[in-house]
Amino acid sequence: MILITTGGKVGAEAARLLAERGLPVRLLARHPEKLGSPAGVEVVQGDLEAPATVDVAMKGVSTVVLVSPAIPAQELAVVDSAVRAGVDHVVKITSKASADSPIPRRRGQTEIENGLIASGLGYTLLRNNAYMQNLLMLAPAIAATNGFGSSAGDGRVGMVDTRDVAAVAAEIAASPAAHRGRTYWPTGPESISYADAAAVFTTVLGRPITFRPLTFEEQKRAMVDAGLPEVIAGMNAQALSLFAEGDSDWVTDDVPSILGRPARTFEQFVVDHAAAFS
Ligand SMILES: NC(=O)c1ccc[n+]([C@@H]2O[C@H](COP(=O)([O-])OP(=O)(O)OC[C@H]3O[C@@H](n4cnc5c(N)ncnc54)[C@H](OP(=O)(O)O)[C@@H]3O)[C@@H](O)[C@H]2O)c1
Repeated sequence: MILITTGGKVGAEAARLLAERGLPVRLLARHPEKLGSPAGVEVVQGDLEAPATVDVAMKGVSTVVLVSPAIPAQELAVVDSAVRAGVDHVVKITSKASADSPIPRRRGQTEIENGLIASGLGYTLLRNNAYMQNLLMLAPAIAATNGFGSSAGDGRVGMVDTRDVAAVAAEIAASPAAHRGRTYWPTGPESISYADAAAVFTTVLGRPITFRPLTFEEQKRAMVDAGLPEVIAGMNAQALSLFAEGDSDWVTDDVPSILGRPARTFEQFVVDHAAAFS
């Protein structure tokens, strides 16, 4: 049995792909009703904040896809539960984690990675670049004003589609042996700036879409106004400032080498989500 710890963008797609392969897959969800009834997926009610529910979901599990908002206490409790249950392998969804990052959640990812490694469980780390799906947050502005702002400046980002992150996680969960103890850095096929993204929106949507640079404070305010909690908006704005400095300007072959097919392009992402931006 493969347990996926949440049913967000990566978790729900990884569950779908594993079920499609006929593998037994279980998804833990706080609100199972939000997920409908995905074919071939056993959805169990649980909360990462309640370790007893994690222990129930962990029964009979051999492999875990550990994906969540990555609160260290929650994910480390999942690791402890996996050890107690005799799990063989954990695929950990992480980011460009480092102990000295200025962004608290990247330091938190390092704490989780270190706890997982120290647990003695088999593990694979997926240190993903920024998700293309983050740009869905810009959809209301693009739809309403034909433009969007960002404090990413001219920085290029090797953005990856969460569907590819899910596919990589599912592939490794299905056959972990070759990936034990490995760290991958999944990205898309190209590193693009937000001005490049505006050009792709223009081509695919068939109308001019403009990019407008924002300061850190303007960026944070825009995210708070869009409904994000102040702390999250602050960390997102910090990440965009790092993008401007070239922090995420990296591309790898990890997606094609693990999946045997190219990673999705940003253009493909916009084509597939065109309705949201229109
Ligand atoms: N965004 C990026 O650019 C980026 C880049 C690299 C790595 N990452 C990493 O990707 C991970 C996030 O993956 P994602 O995008 O798939 O997440 P997501 O779409 O934001 O979904 C998060 C899921 O977690 C569930 N959840 C939250 N708290 C929970 C709890 N206490 N118990 C059970 N479920 C809970 C949510 O369910 P509810 O519906 O109940 O809220 C939701 O389904 C993070 O580790 C992040 O660091 C992100």
